[in-house]
Amino acid sequence: MKSSFAVVERRAEQAVKFFYSHLFWHNPDIRELFPASPEDMERQRDRLFAALTHVVSRIDDDSLGPYLRDLGRDHRKFLVGPEHYAVVGSSLLAALAETSGAAWTPRVEKTWAEAYQVVADAMLAGAAASEDPPWWDAEVVRHLRYGEDVAVLTLRPHLPFPHLPGQYAGVSSDRVPRTWRTYSLGNAPRADGTVDLHVSRIQGGRLSPALVAETRPGEVLRMGAAGGRLTFRRTDRPVSLIAAGTGWAPVRAILEYLVEHPPDQDVRLFVVARDGAHLYDRPLIDTYAASCRWLGVTYITPAPGQHRNQATDRLATALSHRGLWPDQDVYLSGPAPFIGETAHVLEELGARPDRLFHDRVPAVGTGNGPGGRPLGFGEWFLHRPAPHWHDPAARTPE
Ligand code: HEM
Repeated sequence: MKSSFAVVERRAEQAVKFFYSHLFWHNPDIRELFPASPEDMERQRDRLFAALTHVVSRIDDDSLGPYLRDLGRDHRKFLVGPEHYAVVGSSLLAALAETSGAAWTPRVEKTWAEAYQVVADAMLAGAAASEDPPWWDAEVVRHLRYGEDVAVLTLRPHLPFPHLPGQYAGVSSDRVPRTWRTYSLGNAPRADGTVDLHVSRIQGGRLSPALVAETRPGEVLRMGAAGGRLTFRRTDRPVSLIAAGTGWAPVRAILEYLVEHPPDQDVRLFVVARDGAHLYDRPLIDTYAASCRWLGVTYITPAPGQHRNQATDRLATALSHRGLWPDQDVYLSGPAPFIGETAHVLEELGARPDRLFHDRVPAVGTGNGPGGRPLGFGEWFLHRPAPHWHDPAARTPE
């Protein structure tokens, strides 16, 4: 199985094309479940196929169980039903057979088929066991713009929407049908059940420009179940929170939680922005800093007139001044390359990898795949990119 996968990896593009052609040719109705735009479809090719091959080839990994359960639950929001799994499996096997050449033997085929079945069964079981609705309709009750590029949308889900401070959720709008994007939730759970989405407009993106510039109060969006591992773990260690851009949202949610449940140890917040105008929540942060003895804040922006890359250097300097990294829990949030780069700096400074918390799966469009393509989910695991978060050329459509 591993050797056939190695062959497929080298010919991934061909395998992916074959997979979708086969799937849509034999099951024309299934095309309706996928995004209409060719760009989104291109991205989806990466995501679904890369995830399929990634997951199936790592079938022995214990951490897959909970992941597949949630993935199956979440596929209901794409209108995927039990009847679709077998046909996707057939097309996957057909694509692997076509691409693997001599490495495809009856034994290899049997192993892949069995592995796919295990994955499909785990996802189907997750979907069947879930008591959550397939998605939550959520009305926009407030829409605040911060400059051209950032908006904070307050949504009121029609049913209770369980989430923890620091999590994110998939979001979709009828303005861009069947296109889902992931946004962090910028608040700890509230008594009135509303949630804030912090949305940064991605140039050339599909959903974010609609959410930032067009969506109005009264509109109804769809939300998938909350997920993500950037949730606060209380320990008796000091804490550093490091946020860049709208990566501020989950950190804001964690801070809200901490304000309600004050920690014994000190907390240092680093907020990184490309310029002062992008520190859109500064008044709130300053209020917290003034009223919470345990909180210290460092704002990082480039010096006036300097390129925004300078913020990275300034952050590295500020982090080196904090010291005592091995003793701390660190929560990191921002574009995926920013996380990679900052985690590297922190490890050099002595931070322990098991005390660095961030979401490994990038929000769509924050990464960059080979050849400048947006990074697919599976691809992220297979080929982590070199970090260039400040390079504008590396910003890709979401
Ligand atoms: C059985 C193994 C499967 C795996 C491992 C898998 C994996 C994935 C992953 C990782 C994503 C991206 C998730 C996200 O963005 O939230 C995805 C999206 C999707 N999958 Fe699956 N999937 C499987 C089966 C299926 C089946 C049977 C269908 C039915 C046609 C399907 C249709 C879709 C659709 C429509 C999307 C969303 C497309 C988009 O947002 O661009 N998947 N899948």
